[in-house]
Amino acid sequence: MAVFGYLWFPLVLCTVVFFFLIRATRRRRLRLPPGNLGLPFIGETLQLISAYKSENPEPFIDERVNRFGPIFTTHVFGEPTVFSADPETNRFILQNEGKLFECSYPASLSNLLGRHSLLLMKGNLHKRMHSLTMSFANSSIIKDHLLVDIDRLIRLNLDSWTGRVLLMEEAKKITFELTVKQLMSFDPCEWTESLRKEYVLVIEGFFTVALPIFSATYRRAIKARTKVAEALTLIVRQRRKESEAGERKKDMLGALLAGDDGFSDEQIVDFLLALLVAGYETTSTIMTLAVKFLTETPLALAQIKEEHDQIRAKKSEMEPLEWTDYKSMPFSQCVVNETLRVANIIGGIFRRSMTDINIKGYTIPKGWKVFASFRAVHLDHDHFKDARSFNPWRWQDNSGATSPGNVFTPFGGGPRLCPGYELARVELSVFLHHLVTRLSWVPAEEDKLVFFPTTRTQKRYPINVQRRNVSKLCKD
Ligand code: HEM
Repeated sequence: MAVFGYLWFPLVLCTVVFFFLIRATRRRRLRLPPGNLGLPFIGETLQLISAYKSENPEPFIDERVNRFGPIFTTHVFGEPTVFSADPETNRFILQNEGKLFECSYPASLSNLLGRHSLLLMKGNLHKRMHSLTMSFANSSIIKDHLLVDIDRLIRLNLDSWTGRVLLMEEAKKITFELTVKQLMSFDPCEWTESLRKEYVLVIEGFFTVALPIFSATYRRAIKARTKVAEALTLIVRQRRKESEAGERKKDMLGALLAGDDGFSDEQIVDFLLALLVAGYETTSTIMTLAVKFLTETPLALAQIKEEHDQIRAKKSEMEPLEWTDYKSMPFSQCVVNETLRVANIIGGIFRRSMTDINIKGYTIPKGWKVFASFRAVHLDHDHFKDARSFNPWRWQDNSGATSPGNVFTPFGGGPRLCPGYELARVELSVFLHHLVTRLSWVPAEEDKLVFFPTTRTQKRYPINVQRRNVSKLCKD
């Protein structure tokens, strides 16, 4: 036994040295981007997690960009990964989707979304479904069909707020109600609220280890996913019958049922579920953070109030906003852009390389993960002056950036460009309109931004609201 006791140490040492030698040789041969792969197996995952628990938005990337430059190698979540904080490389990654790179999500997300979700689809089917989704949320559909419900549902929600409100929770409720209406024409009711409760459990599962044995949250998420899928399947079956009888509603489900593709119920359910996910946390977080930043920037709050008071002054109290009103909110668009720049919930996107790829003198080996960080570019002083402060006025005369080229990509780009980009903007603008014209508020507690596991405020941004006399603003 004692002999084995003495032997194991040199054996482990040799294995570790051998591991590092092999890795170093392969790296030299491939000209990988500089960086550090960290410890065997866990790499730099722990450094990444602990870094993002700080208040600094980009601690992990900042430190490595300073040491290695804007393209660097690391090893996180069990895989070697190339990180890019370089706008050109990010654009190259986005544009070469399906040719050199393919999307790659953690197992927890893919299992919970279902294989027919747009986020996981590839190839021609992805192209077709992406353009179908784009056509469902384009400007003319929003203008002619969706805007009236967006206006009504947001106004109804805001009119029910009194006293202390957890803004993040309320914003989530609003975005869920809007999406369910747009996808399936349901107005808020007990059914939609119980669907939302299950749905929240599904989302919690995205941020856990995808192993039911280790994670109660993941087990709960799988169960909730089954319930959500069952509820949606019933709706799809009912609507299929109605559609076969010649009844057609002008919503996303209607478009899916009427298409020539002959989608199965399972395909449609996965597709709807993913659309609910895609717009939910994203839009509600931006709503909350826009309010937080405005509250902390009184001049911007005064300016946005003035903009919306002027729009309301031409209307009666309950008159809905029209497309021309949306188009006459220039300062609100600056606020939306600036919020998306400073604190987008989607910090960047993961892809996997489909072949060895040469870029900027380096090689990204086939099968490696790649992370194109949008936030690192958005917060880079080389591209945006005084990049880490909230300054909506920077968008007033130009693209907001100080460097040429498209460095502002909150909605991604290329074949996977967010199909909800215009919808999200409209929802945010209408939300800001009703918020500032109908309510005034103060923060109920100090609350700070955190960036892990997602961008949000620690306490869901509690505010105390008071009603404004909106009728005083109006034309009659
Ligand atoms: C502020 C709100 C939003 C932000 C910041 C945002 C951001 C993004 C980004 C960056 C992507 C690209 C992901 C990738 O390339 O892998 C994306 C994809 C997507 N977004 Fe959004 N999004 C928002 C709202 C919405 C809304 C309201 C919808 C509803 C229609 C939506 C639906 C989608 C879908 C379905 C995809 C997947 C596209 C694909 O893989 O082909 N998003 N979003």
